[in-house]
Parts: sequence; structure tokens; C-alpha cells
Amino acid sequence: MTHRITIEGGGVFDVSAEESTLLRGALRAGVGFPYDCSVGGCGSCRFELISGEMETLWTTAPGLSERDRRRGKRLACQSRPLGDCTIKLRPDDEYRPPIPPRRVSAILRERRAVTADMAEFVFRTDRPADFVAGQYALLQPPGAAGMRAYSMSNLPNAEGEWRFVIRRVPGGRGSNAMFDNVQVGDAVTLDGPYGHAHFRADVPRDVVCIAGGSGIGPIVSVARAAAQDSGPRRLFVFEGARTRADLCFPVLADDARDKVTAYMPVLSAEAEASDWDGARGFVHEEVERAVGEQVESCEFYFAGPPPMIEALQKLLIVQWGVPIARIHFDRFF
Ligand code: FES
Repeated sequence: MTHRITIEGGGVFDVSAEESTLLRGALRAGVGFPYDCSVGGCGSCRFELISGEMETLWTTAPGLSERDRRRGKRLACQSRPLGDCTIKLRPDDEYRPPIPPRRVSAILRERRAVTADMAEFVFRTDRPADFVAGQYALLQPPGAAGMRAYSMSNLPNAEGEWRFVIRRVPGGRGSNAMFDNVQVGDAVTLDGPYGHAHFRADVPRDVVCIAGGSGIGPIVSVARAAAQDSGPRRLFVFEGARTRADLCFPVLADDARDKVTAYMPVLSAEAEASDWDGARGFVHEEVERAVGEQVESCEFYFAGPPPMIEALQKLLIVQWGVPIARIHFDRFF
């Protein structure tokens, strides 16, 4: 059975009655439904329900303010159609998914520690791992309510291998459930791919990859994709971490090392007394110093904590005037 969703002012698509959310159904139908995080955090998938019935999965999702709720706004990633509906929204072709998301079972094959609080989880699915470098998938950690978004750190492959770098967040129910409740051989639900911060192979510019903390996963994937590309473009990788022990690009992307033009680690909390002679401070400061006048030749990909994302947006868009089309990141907040 399907539900027919009519977009007021033009457009119709069908969503299977089994579909978990309106957003997922729309993307599977090839609709350019604006979104970023898929998990209720960012508010990008706001829409209005004009008629019909929808269930709200997470009634207090932070992606909506109280004012939004009062004005009747809903989140597509937290809404499930219960019948035919009419909605108000402005689709955008830029959000049309390059690969429609699928929901599959994934078996944990391996887990290896990368730093004191981050590990690489290797899952296998029966189907090929179909995604574009830099995208993410939703995983359902057993014992935690709702799904969590984690970016793939490997490249798409026919073998069905999906790699994720996950940080154990103190007090974080999702990440702690991934570490404590999922053992090698266990299955979890994997839904994806999602996300727009994927590698643009057809853009011939130099690639600047910037990672902060656990944002390293998608950056490793994009760097790997750029490294495989035979074009003449240069590849710069910036990694921001607290201390030397928290750096992980060299461990995770050993296979891409020869193709990296420059790897620039930046430490924000390395002990003054240590013999570290690399950059100190915040990663956006090093980007400003190192990229400087070469900005015109660069395409930017970044992932990391909100303050890093905000500082980079300020530097790239406000200070340097880089067109938004050359900047790629997914908003999870
Ligand atoms: Fe729905 Fe972020 S709140 S995509």
C-alpha cells in the first residue's frame, strides 16, 4: 500500500505505507526534499502539513523551535504519513539524492581502536555499499531510541563493506550503545546513503579537506576519492585535534598518503612542554594561513564540531567570499 503525497503548488509522489519517515520516502521517490542531518537536529527538513494525517516520531526534536511548533511546522525526518496528505514545501533539485537510500541489515565484522575514544567499525551488508564518498548512513544502535548518523570513511564497493569512525561521547546514548551493545557478528539496521557533502569528481579544482575530531570519517572518504582520481588536482588535508594522540588521518588513510600534497595537523591542547613542532591552535586558523591566496583554485570539504564549522563558514564565505557551491559540509545541529 502507498500513500500519495501532494506538494501544494506542484508535484506528487508516492510513499510506501511501510516507509519510516516522509523524508526517506521523498528521497526514495527522487524528490529534492531539503534536509541535512536526517535525525531531527538541524531543522532543514521543515514543512507544513496542509491536509491528511502524519505521526510525529520525536515530538521534542531540537530541529524545531517552540515558535515553529506554534506555527504548525513539522520535520520530514520525524514525520510518518498515515494516509494521503498535502504538504507545503519548496523542493530543491540540489537535494535530489544521487543514490536513493535503502534500509538493510549490516553485520559488524571488525572493530579497531583508533584513538583513546574513537574506533573504526567495519560492517558488511549483502548488497554493494552504494554511496558517494563523504555521505553518511543512519545506524540503529540496540538499546538506544532512534537512529544515529555516522559518515562512511571508506569508498563505495561491491563487497558491501561500510566503515565508520565513531567517537564514544561521554553520556551519549547512541555512541555508548554502539560501543557496548554491538559485538562482532551482531546485526544492526543501516539506512542510507544520505548527505550532500560528497566528493565532486567532475570539479577539477584542488581539494581542501578539513576535519575536526570525529568529523574525520567523511574527510578520509573524500580524501581517498580525490587520491584515486587521476586528474592533476592537488589534495590538502587539515586535521584538528586536541593532542597528538588524537590525530587519526595517518592511521585511517595510509592508502591515500602518497597522493596527499600536504597533511597539516593542528593541535589545540597539546602540552606546552611536548616536543610537538607542528601547528597549534584552531584548525581554521591554519587553513587561513596555509590556503591564503590559493583560495580561488580550491573546493572545500569539511566536517567537525559546530564551532569549527561556524569558524570555517565565517572565514570562507564572509572573509574570502568563496561561493557556497564550492563549500561542502552537512549540518548536524
Ligand atoms: Fe530533519 Fe535535520 S531535522 S534533516
